[in-house]
Amino acid sequence: MKILANDGMSAAGVKILEEAGAVVITQNVPQENLAEYINSEGVEVLTVRSATKVRKDLIDACPGLKVIGRAGVGMDNIDVAYARSIGRKVVNTPAASSISVAELVMCHMLNVARMVEDSNRQMPLEGETSFAALKKKYAKGKELQGKTLGVIGFGRIGQALARKAIGMGMKVVFHDPFITASVSLKMEFYDGQSVTFDIAPSTLDEVLSQADFISLHVPSQEKPLIDADAIAKMKDGVVIVNAARGGVVDELALLQGIDSGKVFGAGLDVFTGEPTPPVAVLMNEKISLSPHIGASTTDAQDKIGIEIAYNILEALK
Ligand code: MLT
Repeated sequence: MKILANDGMSAAGVKILEEAGAVVITQNVPQENLAEYINSEGVEVLTVRSATKVRKDLIDACPGLKVIGRAGVGMDNIDVAYARSIGRKVVNTPAASSISVAELVMCHMLNVARMVEDSNRQMPLEGETSFAALKKKYAKGKELQGKTLGVIGFGRIGQALARKAIGMGMKVVFHDPFITASVSLKMEFYDGQSVTFDIAPSTLDEVLSQADFISLHVPSQEKPLIDADAIAKMKDGVVIVNAARGGVVDELALLQGIDSGKVFGAGLDVFTGEPTPPVAVLMNEKISLSPHIGASTTDAQDKIGIEIAYNILEALK
């Protein structure tokens, strides 16, 4: 059986599949040549990250393709419903990247709280000549401890983030349209101790109005979940982080919220119009930026490779 891992796969994932008898091809075939390659090489399983698109036309053009694997969480680059409707299996890796994404969100929250996103830009330029002025400029940061984190979307990543935030001394409130009962969050420590927090769900408006920091963990949306109306309901000085999908936060409304002082700052790992984010967002000194790297750690990619390998083997049974 031939598996084309068109956007790559970790060595650990390749090993599992090869030990199961598969031939794993990790070369990248350009999008426009994919159908021809898959058909001529007899590829039965195609795995992608976010770069390769698996739309209806590709699926229709490759009748021998049995399984489509998404090495990641969001499946917006695959026509999942269509593929499944004609009997193709589609699998992803919902668990593997939670810790890496949660840690990146904490990183953005801490960056914004202490204005590190801008001092990192200014220190190389002015640190030698204007140290005292920069020290004064970045002296109005805030602590996370004692503040409330609002998590919108409380799946694996939202819950992983909640554990980190509780560890930092934050209170956590959450909203998730699919969760109506309290969630028990077990936090396990290096020495075997553990503690469990029961957190009751809140309405979206409660989260918006109570949280000092807000992080989104929802799939791609038809229209922004956080728009000017939502921002108006938030506390003054709120920090907003989006490491979910571009467009979940209306970036224009965010910029207006920052300009008016309503929003203290933001952390963005995802953007509308990726891979060419709006320049006004990239240039804003109160936005901590990263280029969609939530799941891009060596640890997460190893775990993703292993999870996708097992999920492919399960799908082929
Ligand atoms: C995911 O959905 O797994 C992450 O956003 C990573 C990605 O899409 O590159």
